[in-house]
Amino acid sequence: MKKILVLNGPNLNLLGTREPAQYGHTTLADVEAMCKETGERLGYEVECFQSNWEGALLDKIHEAGQAFRDGTLLGVVINPGALTHTSIALHDAIKGVGDLPVIEIHISNVHARESFRHHSYVSPAAAGIVVGFGVLGYTLAMEGLVRKLQG
Ligand code: DQA
Repeated sequence: MKKILVLNGPNLNLLGTREPAQYGHTTLADVEAMCKETGERLGYEVECFQSNWEGALLDKIHEAGQAFRDGTLLGVVINPGALTHTSIALHDAIKGVGDLPVIEIHISNVHARESFRHHSYVSPAAAGIVVGFGVLGYTLAMEGLVRKLQG
């Protein structure tokens, strides 16, 4: 069974207690369980990974690029957290691994928040973007990834 990789960046381990007015009360464990259920429904195995370290996420993107080329991975859903707004390295990693489809997701509507959240280094390298649907966005991003690649 092909895999979908769900990546979460810095501070998303705090979901559930972190700024609930922005991010709600759902924990990361709940989000990951939801992604696994969505994967089962769509016919894909789901691997979830969260890190507060930029390099760990870069390593995962590099591995994903190889798995995509090997035909074992459909693509990646990533909430890069604040790295969205700072990380040229994440942009370069996604571009650098070639055709790997990456869907960017944000729980909050970043465009309705502070101006420093309006720019994303990830978006120009992404195959699609889901913004502002709360944690439901992870499901929408996975469905979008599958439907986009099924043509
Ligand atoms: C976020 C939005 C980012 O601006 C913020 O730094 C996060 C979470 C979101 O899911 O809404 O950590 O990516």
